[in-house]
Amino acid sequence: MSDLDQIQAEALARLGAATSLADVEALRIELLGKQGSISALLKTLGKMSPEERQEKAPKIQALREAVADALAARKDAMEAAALEQRLAAETLDLSLPAPATPQGSVHPVSQVLDELAEIFADLGFSVATGPEIEDDWYNFTALNMPESHPARAMHDTFYFPDEAPRGGRMLLRTHTSPVQVRTMLADGAPLRIIAPGRVYRSDSDATHTPMFHQVEGLVIDRDIHLGHLKWTLETFLKAFFERDDIVLRLRPSYFPFTEPSVEVDVGYAVEKGRRVVGGSGDAPGHAWMELLGSGMVNRKVIEFSGLDPDEWQGFAFGVGVDRLAMLKYGMDDLRAFFDGDVRWLRHFGFSAFDQPTLSGGVGARA
Ligand code: PHE
Repeated sequence: MSDLDQIQAEALARLGAATSLADVEALRIELLGKQGSISALLKTLGKMSPEERQEKAPKIQALREAVADALAARKDAMEAAALEQRLAAETLDLSLPAPATPQGSVHPVSQVLDELAEIFADLGFSVATGPEIEDDWYNFTALNMPESHPARAMHDTFYFPDEAPRGGRMLLRTHTSPVQVRTMLADGAPLRIIAPGRVYRSDSDATHTPMFHQVEGLVIDRDIHLGHLKWTLETFLKAFFERDDIVLRLRPSYFPFTEPSVEVDVGYAVEKGRRVVGGSGDAPGHAWMELLGSGMVNRKVIEFSGLDPDEWQGFAFGVGVDRLAMLKYGMDDLRAFFDGDVRWLRHFGFSAFDQPTLSGGVGARA
């Protein structure tokens, strides 16, 4: 074996014994660096005779190349292994189980509001909103309740000291009906909206809280009549209570902003101490329960809202959302809705994953 073969064999053996990138680098410097032993061999070529150089040069070059290639290959392999190891160590375990109990629940009022939006969206209604701190004009005057109107007294209104821009004082809206006026003024006609939200009245017992929720319905179009109102309410209540035997009774009533006005009762029976909606209130074991106020929008309201009442008519209704929730899901004290007691929420709340859809039945399983 020639000297050069000997040097190459030794270099490769030491490379084979290297265990780290640092070992490989140290070896590269020792052999191929400026002061390296193979580099020194290359330098000897300069002092050789041309004949000798012709013979030795290719062999020394071949040695240098073989050692350099082996060093590079070993370095690549070590780097690849290090990367493999890092990737393995940093793996995310996506099979970890979810927390045993999902935390939090959807409040029954939110649940019912979602159900209402879903049902009415299917009938072509969009959702409109208005401010809870309202101007006297929108809450009363534009709804055909001028300053001296006796109906104002029925609302137990919370007033602010601040004067309202259009006269009277600012107030907490006592119903969602001002959204009728705001929407007609903003969007004109035709219209199909529901307006859900908080309303306020100075009143408190098991079935009344100073803040509660209503949903307003408003349809404005040509040739709208009471039949459209009745069909819409029936269709809505059948979808909401998820039963076909909903029977409504329309009773003449009075609201300043509708003419004629109708109070709508729904038939129910008491089962296991709970009111269950369904059947005629005149059937044996059944009775009528007052559910909501409605009527044909008063011409004066249409005028106040900037539309021509000879061209546009409509119907409107207002219903208590909390009441609907109590009837559907069986709570009997409204005050508990707003106590923020987590035990109550755990019992009556809904899963956030249970989105109401018409195809799945809008009701949720508590
Ligand atoms: N705003 C009325 C109330 O709060 C309900 C209602 C709405 C009646 C729309 C008729 C039309 O009692």
